[in-house]
Amino acid sequence: VRSIAREKDMKGMKVLVSAGATMEAIDPVRYITNHSTGKMGFALAKAAMLRGASVTVVKGHTEAEEPHFVKMVPVKSAQQMFEAVKEEAADADIVIMAAAVADYRPSEVYDQKVKKSDGEMSIALTRTQDILKYLGENRTTKTFLCGFSMETEHVVKNSRKKLEKKNLDMIVANNLKTAGAGFGTDTNVITIITKDSEQAFDLMSKAQAADCILDAICEQKNQNPL
Ligand code: CTP
Ligand code: CA
Repeated sequence: VRSIAREKDMKGMKVLVSAGATMEAIDPVRYITNHSTGKMGFALAKAAMLRGASVTVVKGHTEAEEPHFVKMVPVKSAQQMFEAVKEEAADADIVIMAAAVADYRPSEVYDQKVKKSDGEMSIALTRTQDILKYLGENRTTKTFLCGFSMETEHVVKNSRKKLEKKNLDMIVANNLKTAGAGFGTDTNVITIITKDSEQAFDLMSKAQAADCILDAICEQKNQNPL
């Protein structure tokens, strides 16, 4: 009951969330991906919807239960996610990139299944487009940009570097080495970082984490109105 009786403090805002993992094809039967389950992205989408926002989710691979009353745009590869996010971000007030986007894709995608042979084999990889960096470089002042950061060491320092490099308003750092945080769990340990602030939270559910992130975004938006 508490969850549906929320104050609609995000009414009138368009929120774009990316969620899940991208899948980069090698051939018709194989692909490269990562451990993202999409739970954090979906929790953010649900929380924003409950707070009255109009929500679009660009979702890569995920088996998590989908939030209701949001527009779903399914994609597979990083390139497809880039195109969908670019289009949907054009009129968004807030963009939250919670997806785990592959940093590399196979340089060549084979039409036929690659047969094994004796000895080693290697796959040439090409960098994908950094979607957030693109948005940061081509931003309209209207759009609030929030990224996520997965790190196993020097979490805050490395995350702050990403905030600056990608020209973001906020980055949410996840410490993968902390128990209960990260992939597949229903809980998370996050630090919310902006240009001039840092807020570390204890272990909490992804639903609670989503509300903390949205609170921080709304607060920042109120502090720096356009
Ligand atoms: N991201 C993106 N496009 C990519 C790669 C990442 O938009 N091609 C976004 C992610 O969705 C996330 C943020 O950038 O919000 C940081 O992702 P992360 O993997 O933590 O950092 P990278 O910048 O990719 O650096 P590295 O993986 O080397 O730590
Ligand atoms: Ca990465």
